[in-house]
Order: sequence, then structure tokens, then C-alpha cells
Amino acid sequence: MTMSLWVWLKILGFLSVSLCGKAQDNQNVTFQMECRERYFLISTDLSLSGTETRFEAVDDKGVHPITKEYGFTCGYIFSVMVEHFEFRASYFSCHTDNQKDEAFTFHFNLITTNGDGEEIFHTVIETCYPSIPWSSREVTCEEDYVEVILRRDVFCPSYTTADNWDRMVQDLATSGWQVMFNREGVQPTTMSISMARSLGYVFDALPERLLFRSPFGQPHAFISLANGVFLEVIHPTLYSRQKWLVVMVDLVAACSTDRGHYEGSRMVWETPTLLPPLVLDPSKFAVQSISMGVNGQLQFHNTTQGDYTMEINNATVLIGIPFHSAGYRKSFVMENTYNELYVVHLYYEQVFVTEEGVETRLRQHRPMVTPLLTWHPFTMNQTDVEERVFIVYFGNLPSDVTLVAVNLNGQDFTVPLTQESSFSIARGSLPNGTHAYVLRVPFEDSLSKLYLEEGLLQFILDINFTLTIMDQEEPFYHLASVVAELTDVFPPSIDGFCSENGISFQWNHEPVDDLWEVAIGPDPLTPELAAQRGYVVTNNSQSIILDVPLFTIGYSYENITLSQFVGSLEIQSRNLKTPEIQQSVTMQCHFDTTELIVCSTHGVMTVVTEVLNGADPSRTSLLQKTCTPKEMNNSRVLFEFGLNTCGTLVQVDYQNVIYENEIIIEQSTEAPVIKKATLRGVVRCVYPLAGLSQLFTEWRFESEAPGQGTVVYTTDPRSFYPVTTIKPIEQCSQTTTPPSTMATPPRIGASIGALPAGHQSASYVRVLQWQGQVFTEAL
Ligand SMILES: *[C@@H]1O[C@H](CO)[C@@H](O)[C@H](O)[C@H]1NC(C)=O
Ligand SMILES: *[C@@H]1O[C@H](CO)[C@@H](O)[C@H](O)[C@H]1NC(C)=O
Ligand SMILES: *[C@@H]1O[C@H](CO)[C@@H](O)[C@H](O)[C@H]1NC(C)=O
Ligand SMILES: *[C@@H]1O[C@H](CO)[C@@H](O)[C@H](O)[C@H]1NC(C)=O
Ligand SMILES: *[C@@H]1O[C@H](CO)[C@@H](O)[C@H](O)[C@H]1NC(C)=O
Ligand SMILES: *[C@@H]1O[C@H](CO)[C@@H](O)[C@H](O)[C@H]1NC(C)=O
Ligand SMILES: *[C@@H]1O[C@H](CO)[C@@H](O)[C@H](O)[C@H]1NC(C)=O
Ligand SMILES: *[C@@H]1O[C@H](CO)[C@@H](O)[C@H](O)[C@H]1NC(C)=O
Ligand SMILES: *[C@@H]1O[C@H](CO)[C@@H](O)[C@H](O)[C@H]1NC(C)=O
Repeated sequence: MTMSLWVWLKILGFLSVSLCGKAQDNQNVTFQMECRERYFLISTDLSLSGTETRFEAVDDKGVHPITKEYGFTCGYIFSVMVEHFEFRASYFSCHTDNQKDEAFTFHFNLITTNGDGEEIFHTVIETCYPSIPWSSREVTCEEDYVEVILRRDVFCPSYTTADNWDRMVQDLATSGWQVMFNREGVQPTTMSISMARSLGYVFDALPERLLFRSPFGQPHAFISLANGVFLEVIHPTLYSRQKWLVVMVDLVAACSTDRGHYEGSRMVWETPTLLPPLVLDPSKFAVQSISMGVNGQLQFHNTTQGDYTMEINNATVLIGIPFHSAGYRKSFVMENTYNELYVVHLYYEQVFVTEEGVETRLRQHRPMVTPLLTWHPFTMNQTDVEERVFIVYFGNLPSDVTLVAVNLNGQDFTVPLTQESSFSIARGSLPNGTHAYVLRVPFEDSLSKLYLEEGLLQFILDINFTLTIMDQEEPFYHLASVVAELTDVFPPSIDGFCSENGISFQWNHEPVDDLWEVAIGPDPLTPELAAQRGYVVTNNSQSIILDVPLFTIGYSYENITLSQFVGSLEIQSRNLKTPEIQQSVTMQCHFDTTELIVCSTHGVMTVVTEVLNGADPSRTSLLQKTCTPKEMNNSRVLFEFGLNTCGTLVQVDYQNVIYENEIIIEQSTEAPVIKKATLRGVVRCVYPLAGLSQLFTEWRFESEAPGQGTVVYTTDPRSFYPVTTIKPIEQCSQTTTPPSTMATPPRIGASIGALPAGHQSASYVRVLQWQGQVFTEAL
């Protein structure tokens, strides 16, 4: 996965002559300026500059805008290393004021643009003095060009007078010289100096030296292989026919083209120990020193030091630079993966002496970029089944990465957790600079439970971690899924008991209670349901006891006699996730009969009631006189009849069907006549219309739920049903009530007023409530 630096810088959006950092309002750009060996440096961190920056060089001829291309030939370099920017100007760059090769004055305008688009001019004037003596020959391999400086005594015999030199300088200026480009195995190309200049080459006579500069990749350059390393070589020879001799100046330059390779924690760069075109006779060649460093500064000489390595043999020099500590770093998210790369700015210098005793100083600037280094966070399952808590270790996170959110089984939580929660996320740092999170989620919170088979319960925690790189927006995700299993998990086992006043159930708490619900009929047992229906729930540490009083909702009744009846109640435990019933318990208990009215789902009304005022039970009947009690003793009667028999009246309102009959007591002739009022017991069953399926299709009755029954004793001759609209139903009216009665609006309580004042039996009017509140009037 080798990607060139430029590809990456393009991706990162930094490849531009002008600096385009992230826009930040009015941020002042801070530049560092330094004199370095043979170049002048202006540097800044891109992240600090909120601006575009241009450069202009100023000399006595005027102002010269500097572009990247212009820099290749003129000795200026724009170097971008991730978020670090450098501008380097050679001591011999086109617009430097050179005082006898001893002082070099640079004059630049830096033009930055502030947030409002205004240009701000900064003027930089700096004079640099070489701090180390000049070598006879200095070859500098910059990023984009090579520069050769040759002292005049190298090519001019000592008897060359100052006079001669001056003339030569003049000749060079007036193109009295020719240049010949030599290439291996090819005829040399010869041209005039002015022609060469037009091709981008620079030849210049300095006070004490000759200068040659060429961009890389020129047509007259060539690549050669030396000890397995490729070199870019350019080999011009200047020549001039003097009066009686031909003067030739060899200006050969060679640079290793190695871009470096990635080796563990280092970037390794290679160059031949001996660069053949610079050295003609290897046997007389001697290395004086080899030095290396980064960012244009030589730090280590001749030897390996710490993480910086230098392997020198007679063939090659291998330089290793630890990029973690020496490089510029950039991290970013690509394809949901964290990547980082480093750019190392290698600086290399080799000093050697050739056969003629010419000291050569070869310098090389080489930015090297690591391949994309991806990081893979990992999760470790450290779940504690005993404690019933998922523990997930999430580690190997680079230091600039933060966990911003976590999704647990589809539920999002921001990190740090804002609300109180039963789970926790802790962050910890590791000695190697990475960090990790530990997520603890109790099983009960896992939100995803699966009852696999008898006794086996599986908890699943699906995690989606959302991470971001600090100061960057694009998130990336890491997924993990942990599973834990509990064995011996069974639904509660329910026992039932009959008591005098109802039925009780008891079951023990189970390790995982919330897998199951207990239901009475279709309705899950909740505290609300219990309160609404009058059930009593006792919940202690071991078990739950549910007392269901007789006549509360849920019961059904059978085999009702005057003395006893059977009340039954069904309770179920079922799986919450599936409608599957795990256990169903039906309790049937015998209860002593008190007064009651039962409206069965099959359309049978059963009434057990006290006969009032000591009236003779045998004188009671329903509306149809032939319907007499099914059972009676001295004080009570039991009527049982189909809802379509015994003269039962039917009324329908929007919600209900109401069946009504009367227990008529024929007044004993001996008894003292209290006015005329006939005492009637109105018995009534009310069924919700919605629950009836078979009402009118055939003379069969079927209701989903039992009806609500009432028994009311009254002297009011009318039906007093409190409904606003009463519609007679054809099919029913023929066998039942005269329409006039049905249409009369009810007059509740009218009967009370009709009772004689001071009558002992205020309890004449009694309401038995049955499965709900129909009449709540306290009569
Ligand atoms: C920029 O520099 C000016 C002048 O030195 C100073 O007044 C201003 O506060 C600086 N602004 C910022 C954002 O640093
Ligand atoms: C490097 O080694 C050479 C000889 O091999 C020696 O002359 C020179 O002084 C050394 N340079 C440094 C800086 O130690
Ligand atoms: C390097 O030196 C070794 C012996 O010291 C020699 O065998 C080898 O040929 C030399 N390699 C080159 C490229 O000169
Ligand atoms: C850092 O240390 C942790 C714990 O020893 C290890 O799991 C992780 O892989 C290490 N990461 C790196 C980049 O060395
Ligand atoms: C993880 O969460 C992110 C953000 O909510 C979402 O875009 C992504 O699809 C999720 N991944 C999976 C596999 O659910
Ligand atoms: C995680 O750890 C638990 C407890 O040690 C174990 O039961 C489970 O199989 C492990 N594996 C996964 C994938 O969750
Ligand atoms: C019983 O009490 C426990 C603990 O107080 C509670 O979690 C549970 O929901 C209660 N059960 C019922 C049916 O009220
Ligand atoms: C009701 O009585 C019938 C007939 O005596 C009997 O077969 C049935 O089991 C009784 N029902 C209950 C619930 O006791
Ligand atoms: C009539 O039967 C009921 C129910 O069995 C009983 O409570 C009551 O005492 C009986 N009355 C008489 C007078 O026997």
C-alpha cells in the first residue's frame, strides 16, 4: 500500500502553493524565521493559519511573485508536511543579495489574507551568514531541484589570475560559454548558456564560485543505478575556448531518488556510499563524515543513536528515522477505519574527499511518507455470568480518539452518560499511549433476552460504538456483540387455594421474573389491575400471594344452588415475548350461597335473593307467572331462566343490550295493605353489545364476557333504566315489552318518593353490583 506523498496531501487538501488551513477568523499567522545552513527558512503550522499566504521576493530589480514552478529554477521550495509548512530559500536563490558569499540578505513579502478577505503584508528582511566553511564543492539535493556550488580553485589552476576569473564571469554573462550535457551511452548535447537557461537551468558566476541549478526530471538528466540504489544524475560541462586553452568545468550532480520505505517503527532511506559520477576513482575516495537528522538539522554523526539508525558499508548508507517521534502526523477516518500517516523530513549530509583532494559536501532533503497505518480497536468479552453483568473491554484506541456515543441493542446513549443509568462506561489509559473503555451492562438491562428452551435463557448485547477523532467531525463505528446464557431459568410455579371469601394464588420469585407475566384471563396482573378490581397482592422477598375476593372480575360460576355454588378462576403465567402460555391454573371452589345474580355467557340469568318483608317465597314469580323459583326455602328464592324466556324484556342502547325481568311478589291477602304499590324486584343483565356475536342471528345467546347483573326492589311501576335512548327491537318486542314502556325516559328515584314516609324498609331498594359499577346511586 504505497501511496505517494502528493496523492495523500491532495487527499488531505493541502497541496497548494498557498496555504489553505481551516478558516478561522482573524487568526494571526505566526511564522518562524531561521537561518539554516545554506538556506533561509520560514515555517508555520497550517492548523494555526486561517489564511491564504503568498510570497514575493524583493531585490533591487523589483518584486517577484514566487510560485512553486518559479521556485524550482530559482531556489525556492514550498514544502508541506501534513500540517506543517515550510518555505526554504537557497542562499543562492535568484533574488538573494549575496555579499561576497559571506552574507546573504533575504527580503520577502508574505501576503496573508484574513477572515474578511483583506490582504495583510508582512515584510521579512533577514541576513544569514554561513556558519560552517564552504567546501570546495557543495551539492544540495532539495525536494524539487539540485544545486551545485563549485569553488573556483577547483577548476581554475592556481595560476588563474583574478583577471582571468573576472573575464570568465563576464563571458558567462554574455554567453561566451557553452554547455555540454553528458549522458551515459548517449552523445552529449551541446547548447549555449542562454539556450540552457531557457530550458530551466541556471548557471551563474558568483564572487568566488560557480553555481548550477536544475529542477529534477529535466530532459538532460538520467537515472543510474549504483549499488542497488537509483540516482538522478545531471552532468553538464561548461567549456570555453580561451586564448590558448580550453577551460572546462564539470558540474556533475547526483541525488538518491529513494523515497524511503516503511520498516516497523522507522522509515528507512538508502543512498550509495559512493555516488559514481561525483567520484571518478573510488580507490582514492574517502568518506569524512555522514550525518543525519530531520527538519533540516543534522543531529547524529557517523553512528546510530537511539532510534535513529545509520548503517554504513562500502556500498550503501541506510538511514532509519523513527517516524513516531520525528515525523509530522495526520489521522483521519476513511471507510470507517482510523488511519494515520507520518511525514518525516529527512536531512542527510555526506562529506567526502575525492582523488583530487576536493572536499565535497552532499546534502539531501527528503520528505518520506509512511503508508497509511490503520488502527483496529478491539473488544474483549469479560462478562461475569455470576454477577449477571456484561463486561466489555474496548481497547487499542489511539490517544486522539474519543468515544462519543454508544448504541446498546438499538438504543442510543451519548458518552459521557448524561442520565442516571444502571450501566457504566469507564475510560482508562494504557502505558503504550492507547486508551480503552470498559462497558458494564447488567443482564437485566440487555434489552434482548431469548428464552431458548426449557430453562435456558440467553442475553444478547449488541453494541455499536461511535468514535471520533478530536477536532474532526467524521465519526467511525465499531461493532461488538456479546452473548451470555443463564441456565435453570423457569417460569414461576403457581399454587392455588380456596378460602372462605375467594381464591388465592401463590408463586415464588424467580431469578428472572420479568420474562413472564401472570394474567387473569386475558389481562396481565399489574398493580393497577389489582387496584381496579380489588385484588390483594402481597409481595415479599420470597413470593407473591394474590388474593382474589369472590365476585370480583375474573370469576365464573356454576352449579348454583340455594346453599352452594362453584366459583372458578383461571390464572396463567405466560412468556412476555411470545404469547405462549407456560402454566395455567384453574381453581374451582365451593362457596356458600349468599344473595347473587349471575348473567352467564350463554344467556342464563341466575338470581338468589332474599324475599323481602317476610313475604312468602312460594308466592314469587317472574313476569311470566309460570316461571317460579327453581329452589327456595323460608326466606330465599333461586330463579334461573334463559334470557329469552319468562317474559324477559330486551332493550338496546348504543353500547349495551339489557335484559330485564321482575320478581313479582304476590301480596298476601292477610297482610295489611300498604296503599297499592306492588313490590317488584327488578333483575337485570347488561351485556356490552360489542361482545355479543350471536344475539339476533338465531335464538342462541353467546357473549364473550358475563353480563353485569343487578337486583333492585322498587315500587315504581315503570322500568327505570337510565339510558337516554331506548330502541325497541322488533324481534324481541313481540315477545316482551310494550313499546310505550320502552320509550319512556327513565325516572330514577321516583319510586322512593312513592314509598310511604317512615317506612321501615329503607332497604327495599337494594342494588347488588355485579362485575362493575352500573348503578352507583345510593338509594
Ligand atoms: C493579532 O495580532 C494583533 C496585533 O499584534 C493583536 O492585536 C490581535 O489581538 C491578534 N489577534 C489574535 C486573534 O491573536
Ligand atoms: C566521522 O568519521 C570520520 C572518520 O571516519 C571522522 O574523521 C569524523 O571526525 C567523524 N565525524 C564526527 C562528527 O564524529
Ligand atoms: C565492500 O567491501 C567488501 C570487503 O570489505 C568487498 O568484498 C566488497 O566487494 C565491497 N563492495 C563494494 C561494492 O565495493
Ligand atoms: C497497547 O497496550 C494494550 C495492552 O497491553 C494492547 O492491548 C494494545 O494492543 C497496545 N497497543 C499498541 C498500539 O501497542
Ligand atoms: C452504527 O451506528 C451508526 C450511527 O447510528 C449507523 O450509521 C450504523 O449503521 C450502525 N451500524 C450498524 C451495523 O448498525
Ligand atoms: C462471553 O463471555 C461469557 C462469559 O464468560 C460467555 O458465556 C460467552 O460465551 C462469551 N462469548 C460471547 C461471544 O459473548
Ligand atoms: C414484587 O416486588 C419486587 C421487588 O420489590 C418487584 O420487582 C416486583 O415487580 C413485584 N411484583 C409484583 C407482581 O408486584
Ligand atoms: C356441576 O354439577 C354437575 C352435575 O351435578 C357436575 O357434573 C359438575 O361437575 C358440577 N360442576 C362443578 C364445577 O362442580
Ligand atoms: C335459606 O337458605 C340459606 C342459604 O342456604 C340459609 O342461609 C338460610 O338460613 C335458609 N333459611 C332458612 C329459613 O332456612
